[in-house]
Amino acid sequence: MVEIKTLAEIEAMREAGRVVARALQAIVKHAAVGVRVDELDELAATIIAEAGAKPAFLGYQPHFAPTPYPAVICSSINDVIVHGIPDRYRLKDGDLVSIDCGAYLDGWAGDSAVSFVVGQPRARDVALIEATQEALRAGIAAMRPGNRMGDIGHAISSVAVAGGYGVPIDFGGHGIGRKMHEDPHVANQGRPGRGLVLRTGLVLAIEPMFTAGGDGRYLTAADGWALRTVDGSRASHSEHTVAITDDGPVILTAV
Ligand code: MF3
Ligand code: CO
Repeated sequence: MVEIKTLAEIEAMREAGRVVARALQAIVKHAAVGVRVDELDELAATIIAEAGAKPAFLGYQPHFAPTPYPAVICSSINDVIVHGIPDRYRLKDGDLVSIDCGAYLDGWAGDSAVSFVVGQPRARDVALIEATQEALRAGIAAMRPGNRMGDIGHAISSVAVAGGYGVPIDFGGHGIGRKMHEDPHVANQGRPGRGLVLRTGLVLAIEPMFTAGGDGRYLTAADGWALRTVDGSRASHSEHTVAITDDGPVILTAV
């Protein structure tokens, strides 16, 4: 069932989103060559706890997962697309890092992800990251009352097609509110004018993930969580929690 939020509920969700945005901002600042990925997880845990919020990923077990998720953030490096579990790995020069973070505050969820390079970036990684950022902006711009779900997916996949990037199927965005994952699913591809009609009060996590290789095919790692590209190419992921209002889309995961 698709839940519609009131303006007051959207304001409460903005506070949850702000906590996630602050955690990601601190992680981007702290991440550097030689930093261990599990330090970034601890940093997020601290910021979320100090805000009186709760990590949304820790202990979460969606249908596709074999075990409850064991960390606060997902850290997906280079050929890992999403759902990388933080470990003792030390970031290396030129690594393409995607960090996804979610939290509950006062019973409301926020979910957001950023991608960046540590150390000296390669031009093609910068272009890939900019493409998922542009796709996120395009998907958000399509979130207008009267538009349809397919308009969001089409806006996202058009950016991938233009850059020759792959779009992993099956994974995408989602409704969000009292639960991190609510209806509807938000595919990263779609046909304009098709699907659910968008209306004021709908809150969606929009999350384009692109692979540098054009086919977007992936494999699940032995831990049952991390998704890796089959061709070994790198991947980028950008995500915001966004509300549809009468005044247009409003990003809730902003500081
Ligand atoms: N943004 C991710 C998603 O919606 C966050 C889920 S990570 C998990 O799939 F660990 F909680 F599953
Ligand atoms: Co999400």
